[in-house]
Amino acid sequence: MTSSSSPAASDRRGTPAPSRSDALGRPLRDLRISVTDRCNFRCPYCMPASVFGEGFPFLPRPELLTFEEITRLAGIFLGLGVRKIRITGGEPLVRRDLPRLVARLASLAPGLDLALTTNGSLLAPVAAPLAEAGLRRVTVSLDSHDAEVFRKMSGGHSDPRRVLDGIEAAERAGLVPVKVNCVVQRGVNDHLVVELARRFRGTGRILRFIEFMDVGTRNQWDLSQVVPAAEIVERVDAELPLEPVEPAYRGEVARRYRYRDGGGEIGVIASVTQPFCGDCTRARLTADGRLVTCLFATEGTDLKALLRGGISDEALGERIAEVWSGRRDRYSEERSRLSRERPKLEMFQLGG
Ligand code: GTP
Ligand code: 5AD
Ligand code: SF4
Ligand code: SF4
Repeated sequence: MTSSSSPAASDRRGTPAPSRSDALGRPLRDLRISVTDRCNFRCPYCMPASVFGEGFPFLPRPELLTFEEITRLAGIFLGLGVRKIRITGGEPLVRRDLPRLVARLASLAPGLDLALTTNGSLLAPVAAPLAEAGLRRVTVSLDSHDAEVFRKMSGGHSDPRRVLDGIEAAERAGLVPVKVNCVVQRGVNDHLVVELARRFRGTGRILRFIEFMDVGTRNQWDLSQVVPAAEIVERVDAELPLEPVEPAYRGEVARRYRYRDGGGEIGVIASVTQPFCGDCTRARLTADGRLVTCLFATEGTDLKALLRGGISDEALGERIAEVWSGRRDRYSEERSRLSRERPKLEMFQLGG
């Protein structure tokens, strides 16, 4: 069914394909693939339990892209210039047999930066199989080291010890450096920011504090709950002196800082107070196969229908390139002008 003259095929032979630029001159470099819209947590800032209860209509299995379909699409994206693939969810580790998908993706291109973002609760037993299958790195969410605050922020699920076990297993498996994501919400966990930094300092793990974002429509976001990244840096710096570090690559989402005493680095992701749309090179693929060009998009392009309708790789590549070429998204830069009431896709559909 796939054609040997596809853009993906040329990429598999070695040289990375040139990147396509969107209408604002931003190349297509990263693909974030959501493999499920389900999650074993109910973080109130993402999937509040009051909305996402027993009867919530998550995607039925036939609607999910199969691993074969995901791999075929990923190959086409690599042919369009993608250099980095991140597997996300919902919680990606609730999808069965994930190492099988990782192995397929890893075989698409030598040297592919293949990463996974997870809540860490199910990571310990699969860290080694994932690494053996070709995963390079993991990013693990941990909003607090304090069990009570953690449970409040996970909707009553799991505990920090389990997530730390997952991080340790990932390190033993060579998935390093592990990045740790902490969403900061004023009045919920912001009083523990410095203590969390202290705990990760000197461990080689890169802690990143994320401003609470107005993604989706269900998390009751308001600006008063956002702790600006500058304030987070100030608070950490006051006790554990920091200095800024240059970005590791153009378009890096996190702003980096290192401890002046050599204790490692932290990052802040300031999408509310210091938007980074100008360098946004990320495409997102939902679990049901929609191509989404912004975390705050209202809709996506249905690639699954095209795939299942028997389209060739060339035609699919052209369709994706056409969507990317027309892309003008810069929601975070325009936030104040746009209505927050407009319909938006949800974070658990997009994987962050
Ligand atoms: P690496 O730099 O490759 O390690 O990964 P990353 O920082 O891009 O990935 P990660 O999944 O850890 O994302 C960190 C946080 O940044 C998450 O909360 C994402 O939702 C947020 N984020 C990632 N990409 C974007 C984006 O394009 N726009 C906005 N507004 N937030 C983003
Ligand atoms: N604001 C900021 N970060 C969020 N995440 C989920 N929802 C939000 C939100 N509303 C984070 C997760 C995870 C990453 C992929 O996105 O905690 O670390
Ligand atoms: Fe699940 Fe992550 Fe959303 Fe929390 S933020 S409910 S762990 S997908
Ligand atoms: Fe990219 Fe949209 Fe995030 Fe801006 S708001 S950085 S365009 S995903």
